[in-house]
Parts: sequence; structure tokens; C-alpha cells
Amino acid sequence: MTSKDSVASDPVALVVGGSSGMGRVTALRLAQDGFHVVVAARRFALCEEVVAEIHSSGGRATALTIDITEDESVATCFSQIEHQLGRLDAAFNNSGRTLGFSVTTETPLTRLQETLELNLLGTFRCLQHELRLMRAQGRGAIVNNASIAATRGFAGLQDYCAAKSALIGLSKSAALEYAPFGIRINVITPGLIATERYETIRAQPNSPIEARLKDIPVGHAGSMEDIAATVSWLLRPDVSFLTGAVIPIDGGECAK
Ligand SMILES: NC(=O)c1ccc[n+]([C@@H]2O[C@H](COP(=O)([O-])OP(=O)(O)OC[C@H]3O[C@@H](n4cnc5c(N)ncnc54)[C@H](OP(=O)(O)O)[C@@H]3O)[C@@H](O)[C@H]2O)c1
Repeated sequence: MTSKDSVASDPVALVVGGSSGMGRVTALRLAQDGFHVVVAARRFALCEEVVAEIHSSGGRATALTIDITEDESVATCFSQIEHQLGRLDAAFNNSGRTLGFSVTTETPLTRLQETLELNLLGTFRCLQHELRLMRAQGRGAIVNNASIAATRGFAGLQDYCAAKSALIGLSKSAALEYAPFGIRINVITPGLIATERYETIRAQPNSPIEARLKDIPVGHAGSMEDIAATVSWLLRPDVSFLTGAVIPIDGGECAK
């Protein structure tokens, strides 16, 4: 931990996968919006950089290590939150990624297993700990980051689509279970978002991104700030009647 707090005075928001991309930008936004932000991921040095950026803007934050594919790592991270910050008001389960690209018959079973391990089981592990802490408090809000790949198919990404669509079933069911205890769980399904990786791919010759952009009604990719603003809104305590929802952030792509 980089903080010496024993019980945080501000509401605490955890960003799992806060070291880069939309998790990093969401962590910065949540700090602006008054949360003490726990920035957690495997790359601790990057989490510390995000925390330093928050501190330099006058916010409060703590860096922690977590590997969501490892039971012990997840348990240790949540134990640190419980014992050193003493509360957990909000969580953004953002960690995930694609692990390869191939048609179904060419995809090794091991890739499907690893994709599920990271994108589904990893979030399930975090969700269990978050719900236990929030259940004891009688309040909380959680956002799980799926993808537009949860609600439509993508040739070559059947493993990722399977994992992300399962995340919707998991989230909706948990939302039903914990609604009576004041805990809300929603899912976002981002479309094409202009992350650091997006810019690298777009700069390559014959990039597939130009064709994809033609499918997006608003005519451009979303920004990481679009994600951060929506997540921060979903985590606000006054958005109290919204749970079990799947929120597309995709410039209208899934409306077609
Ligand atoms: N980019 C898009 O257009 C897009 C669209 C729809 C959905 N998404 C989803 O949005 C989320 C964020 O993606 P991004 O584009 O912002 O990519 P990113 O910059 O690669 O962020 C992924 C985050 O996940 C963390 N992570 C990866 N493996 C982990 C593990 N085993 N344990 C803990 N954390 C782990 C990474 O941190 P460490 O490496 O430091 O652990 C990183 O902070 C992902 O779930 C992705 O599937 C992305």
C-alpha cells in the first residue's frame, strides 16, 4: 500500500485493471469525483504512476497489486482494502483483453480456457470479494466491463465473445441476488474505444479500424473519457434505481 490510512474518510472506489487504458482514465475521473481510488493491476509501477497523478491533482488514491487469475492475489488485495482502508463503496471490474484471433476450428482449447480465466473467472473472483465487503456495509455499486463482443459476434474472437457474454449473465444474476441489500451491479459494453492500442493499430497500413469506423453511426471511435464518465455516473449513490442493466457505450453500433 502507498497510503497509511486505516479507515478512509472519503468513499472508496476500486478500479481493477487501473494501470492503463480505460481503467486508468476512469481512476482519474473517480478521484476527481471525490472517491479515494484504489488502483489495482499486475503492473504495480504503473498503478503507482496513476496514484501519483491523482495525488498531484489533490485527490486521494492507493496502489495495490492484483492478478485476477490467481485466487491468493485477489484475496490479498481485498484483505488490504478491508484492513487498511476499512470500506469499499464502489468497484469497476475492468481487467480483460483478447488473447488471440482465429476461427473456431483453429482456436486451441487452452486459449478459450485462458480467455475465460481472465475475462470471466477473474471478474467472478473480484465480484465475490466486493459483494462480501459491500454486503457487510449494506451498500455499494459495481460496474463490470464487458464489450460489444458480449452482445454480437466477431469472427475470429469466439472465445472473447463467449467470455464477455457470460459476464452479462453473471452480472444480471448477481444484481438480482444483491438488490435487496442495497448493492447495484451494472455492465457496460464498450464498442470501439480510442485507447493507446487503437492508435497503434490505426497507424498501420491497411488497418481494419477504418472499415470498422464505417459501422459506427456517430462516425468515430469513443474516447476513454466517455467510458470514465459513464462508469462514474453508474457508481454514484444517487443513481439508486439502476441495477442489472447492460449499458452500450458504442456510438449506436449495437442499435443497428
Ligand atoms: N479497447 C476497446 O476498444 C475495448 C472495447 C470493449 C471492451 N474492452 C474491454 O475494456 C477493458 C479495458 O481494456 P483497455 O482497452 O483499456 O485495455 P488495457 O489498457 O490493456 O487495460 C487492461 C487492464 O487489465 C489489466 N489486466 C490484464 N490482465 C490482468 C490480470 N491477470 N490481473 C489483473 N489485471 C489485469 C491490465 O493491467 P496489468 O497488465 O497491469 O495487470 C490493464 O490495466 C477490458 O476488459 C477489455 O476487454 C475494450
